[in-house]
Amino acid sequence: MAGTSDIEKAADVLRAGGLVALPTETVYGLGANAEDPAAVSRTFQVKGRPSSHPLIVHIGGAELLDDWVQEVPATARLLAEHFWPGPLTLVLRRGRRVPLEATGGLETVAVRVPDHPVALALLSAFGGGVTAPSANRFGSVSPTTADDVRAELGDAVDFVLDGGLCEVGVESTIVDATGDIPTILRPGGVTREDLESVLGCPLAVPASSRIRVPGQHPSHYAPRAQVVLVPPEKVVTEAELAQELGHRVGVFLPAAFGDAEVKAHAVVRVPDSMAAYARGLYGLLRELDQRGCDIIVASLLAEAGLGLAIANRLRRAAGPRAAA
Ligand code: TXA
Ligand code: MG
Repeated sequence: MAGTSDIEKAADVLRAGGLVALPTETVYGLGANAEDPAAVSRTFQVKGRPSSHPLIVHIGGAELLDDWVQEVPATARLLAEHFWPGPLTLVLRRGRRVPLEATGGLETVAVRVPDHPVALALLSAFGGGVTAPSANRFGSVSPTTADDVRAELGDAVDFVLDGGLCEVGVESTIVDATGDIPTILRPGGVTREDLESVLGCPLAVPASSRIRVPGQHPSHYAPRAQVVLVPPEKVVTEAELAQELGHRVGVFLPAAFGDAEVKAHAVVRVPDSMAAYARGLYGLLRELDQRGCDIIVASLLAEAGLGLAIANRLRRAAGPRAAA
């Protein structure tokens, strides 16, 4: 776990225009000084991500929001005060400190306060804002441990802060808060139900397959193996059929199957709480890749609470891939 001297070193790396991988409560991020266009641009190169895809600016506290955005509608203020630090990202009008490199040319900017002691210590030592996309190569599975980051990015990142396993495990919920009625752009660690109870009104959530946020492709969060989604009761038959056809099949076995035997290459059991499933999801996808699976058979759970974000990530992992 990163100590005080690591935090100081990481802050120096940011000041010098370098890239620091940092733990957050959701996933690890690839951090750069948000006000340094050259450092921000390097983030895109290292990830292999198109420069039109906007980044999230991480700040040290809700009281700093006005330094980074131009207008904060009352609903946005309410959400910031209630959920920060936490897995909620607010899209607001870009403040002048934010370079267009960070927003992919947009006049809006995504901002959040991460809820992780190491991230907060870094933001406090550094004193500025830190752009941080998930610290993985473009389109692949987000990292939830420091080892995942090293496996994804190796020497391309100047310094890695170790903060252990990310507690939430899926990315932040992104809310467009520029207008009077906020909308969810990406489901994540703060549930729709939590947002609704604070706002006191229902929120529209676009069908996950139709979400149109810059930087969200049909295939994202994808392991090397092909992900196949089937109804829960078909997971075992589908997996065994594919295995018989010569595939190396990995199975996400729903809790309802207990410890049933499955004739497949690798079986992982889906944790029975949504929080544990979200925390373990990316690690399980990585594990099945590492065990050499070429197909992963999984199913969607109820899309309520954290299940909405889990289903969104699984659908994208299973989404059509661009020609390689
Ligand atoms: O939990 C998280 O949000 C993690 C941790 C590291 O904080 N970060 C993360 O960043 O997931 P990234 O770059 O992988 O995803 C950020 C997404 C972009 O893909 C884009 O869809 C959306 O945020 N975004 C950023 N700025 C936006 C804007 N101005 N308008 C709409 N969407 C925006
Ligand atoms: Mg990402």
